[in-house]
Amino acid sequence: MLATDLHGNIRDVNRAASSLLGASPATLIGQSLAVFVGRGHRRAFRSRLARLRAAGNDEVQEWQVQFQPRGREPVETALAISTVAAPGPGGKRLLCAIRDITRRKGIERRLKERERQYRSLYLQVLAHRDALRNLSARYLLAKEEEAKRIAHQLHDEAGQITTSIHLALAEIGRELPERNRERLRQVSTYVDEIEDRLRRLSHELRPTILDDLGLRPALEFLAEGFSARTGIPIRVEGKTDGRVDSLVETAIYRVVQEALTNIARHSSAGGASIRLRHVHDRLRCTIRDDGVGFAANRLRRGGKGASRAGGSGCSASGRGSTPSAVGSRSARLRARGRSSPSSFLWGAGHDLPGPPRR
Ligand SMILES: Nc1ncnc2c1ncn2[C@@H]1O[C@H](COP(=O)(O)OP(=O)(O)OP(=O)(O)O)[C@@H](O)[C@H]1O
Ligand SMILES: [Mg+2]
Repeated sequence: MLATDLHGNIRDVNRAASSLLGASPATLIGQSLAVFVGRGHRRAFRSRLARLRAAGNDEVQEWQVQFQPRGREPVETALAISTVAAPGPGGKRLLCAIRDITRRKGIERRLKERERQYRSLYLQVLAHRDALRNLSARYLLAKEEEAKRIAHQLHDEAGQITTSIHLALAEIGRELPERNRERLRQVSTYVDEIEDRLRRLSHELRPTILDDLGLRPALEFLAEGFSARTGIPIRVEGKTDGRVDSLVETAIYRVVQEALTNIARHSSAGGASIRLRHVHDRLRCTIRDDGVGFAANRLRRGGKGASRAGGSGCSASGRGSTPSAVGSRSARLRARGRSSPSSFLWGAGHDLPGPPRR
């Protein structure tokens, strides 16, 4: 504790305060308290004193003041200061209760520093995540472009060759007697079949229908081809609210493609369904089958398939789809994400198992 006159000259001081200021009570008496305030803070301290004097009220004020005892480290303090009446000339004193808060301030400083470091680390993580997203979006686009190129070549070149075969067969047919033409017609239907398969393959590689008509028609086309090949009927339900960004459409299409391949390979299902739901800016696609379901020992880590991340086509976003609970009687895979690629983040979470609705 110490007491000063209204100008801040020390009039009385106890032992604790004198030891904090680094001088004996005898040398402190009569000196200005401002002299012991840290260099950079003196002017502000003096103006505060002047304001207090001018206000003339006797409310207790709390100031944080840094004192600089001679030859010692600065001391951070909390100063409770109030104006009190005193006997004798001048009549008034400033009563100061000084508390050493150096440790607390040190901790506060370190905490702030940590917080600053964490904030900068967090910003770095966000920046890396965005960079990763951009990179994987670019990778997906490049992959799709490549698929488009191969699909077109497959479609156009194979189409030209099969047309040439048809023309050649027709020519040969004209030179053959009628009884041998039936065999030729048979060959012609095989060529038609090859053509059809190549066309479907080309569509699956890069479905132009996805670019031209959108997700739902492309999924229907995919499901149709799948059912024709495997004999497993697939229902396509739901729709999107208009066209969705092509990156998102492609990612969902690839997830479904991978899921259907899995159904054919692993599920022994008698039927399956693909359901689209568009709620606000979120698009959800659920693929279910009524087969054997996911088995813990068959789900392998790091598989490139749908169970891991919605298929490699979903790489724009990292993780993408979630299989239904392991051990359930049917398999359900869900992919969901925002329908605009600016925040293209797939959600994850288990879904309740159950057979597809009929
Ligand atoms: N519809 C399904 N029904 C039952 N099990 C499934 C189904 N889909 C996936 N699984 C299980 O999940 C496992 C992992 O699937 P994932 O697609 O990752 O790999 P994969 O199909 O075995 O190989 P690939 O990497 O060629 O796709 C499969 O091996 C299979 O045991
Ligand atoms: Mg697979």
